[in-house]
Amino acid sequence: MSDKIRYVRQLSPESAGEAPGRGRLQGRQILVVGGGQRTFDAATDPVGNGRAMSLLFAREGAHVAVADMNRASADDTVSRIAAEGGRAFSIEANIAHEADVIRMIDEAIEGLGGFDGMVLNVGIGLGSLDLDGVDLREWNETFAVNLTGPMLCCRKALKHIADGSSILFISSIAALRSGSGLAAYDASKAALGGLMRNVAREGARRGIRANTICPGLVDTPLGRHASAGRPSRSAEGVPFGRMATGWEVAYAALFFISEESVYINAQTLAVDSGITGL
Ligand SMILES: NC(=O)c1ccc[n+]([C@@H]2O[C@H](COP(=O)([O-])OP(=O)(O)OC[C@H]3O[C@@H](n4cnc5c(N)ncnc54)[C@H](O)[C@@H]3O)[C@@H](O)[C@H]2O)c1
Repeated sequence: MSDKIRYVRQLSPESAGEAPGRGRLQGRQILVVGGGQRTFDAATDPVGNGRAMSLLFAREGAHVAVADMNRASADDTVSRIAAEGGRAFSIEANIAHEADVIRMIDEAIEGLGGFDGMVLNVGIGLGSLDLDGVDLREWNETFAVNLTGPMLCCRKALKHIADGSSILFISSIAALRSGSGLAAYDASKAALGGLMRNVAREGARRGIRANTICPGLVDTPLGRHASAGRPSRSAEGVPFGRMATGWEVAYAALFFISEESVYINAQTLAVDSGITGL
C-alpha cells in the first residue's frame, strides 16, 4: 500500500474499549471459557479476546464467570472487572480434561446461580507449517484443546444451561481458508463449525442458540507475538490496514450473546475487515 493513500480511521470508543456500558446484558449470567490471556509483556500487552469479552459483558450488566487454565490470568481479568464495579469470579480449568470441564460448569452454576450464556474462546496453534513436519502429538493436542474441549463444554452445559440461552464459538478465518499455515489449527477451527451446528440443532427445541465468530488478524498479545516476523500476518494486507482490537471481537460476541440476536442461530460471522469477503 506504500503508493496509495489509505483512510486511517481514529479508533472509536468501542474499538478502544472505552465506551460506557449500555445495559445490553442486564441480569444475564455468562461463562467465558478462556477469559484470561497469554502474557508476553504485562506492561505493553494489548487486551486479548477473552478478557475483552469478559470485561465488556460485565460492563453491560452481566455477572461473569471467567474460566481459564491460567488462574492468575483469569484472576487478573476478574480484578479489572471489579475495578470497574462489575461482578465476576474466576474458575481454573483445562478444557482438554473432562473432569475439569464438569467441575468448571458446576462451579459456574453455583457462583452465577445458573447460566444463560457461554463463550468458548480457547484456542491454541501448535506445530509445523507443512504437513511433512506435522508432529502427531502436537496435532492431537491441538484438536484436544480446540475441538474436543468445546465439545465437552457443550455436552455438560446443555444439561444445565437455561432455555433461550446463547452459546458462542470463537473460531478463526483460518477455518474458512488456509490462513495460519498451521494445518492442525486450521482444521480444528474448521471442525468447530460442525460442532456448532450440532449444538444449534440440539438446542433449538429449547430456544438455545449456537453461533460462531471467525476473527481475522487481531492485535491480542498472542496475535502480536504470532505476527512478529511473519509477512502473512502483516496488517498491510488487511483491508482496513490494521489488525482488529480484542474489543472489536468482543462487541461482535456481545451481539451474539445478547437478546439482540435472538433469531440468529447456527450462523458464522467473520470479523475481519473484509479479508474473506473481498
Ligand atoms: N489473536 C488473533 O489474531 C486471533 C485470530 C483468530 C482467532 N483467534 C482466536 O481467538 C481466541 C483467543 O485468542 P487470543 O489471541 O486472545 O489468545 P490467548 O491465548 O491470549 O487467549 C486464550 C486463553 O485460553 C487459555 N487456554 C489455552 N488453552 C487452554 C485450555 N486447554 N483450557 C483452558 N484455557 C486454555 C489461555 O490460557 C488464554 O488465557 C482463540 O480461540 C484464537 O484461536 C485469535
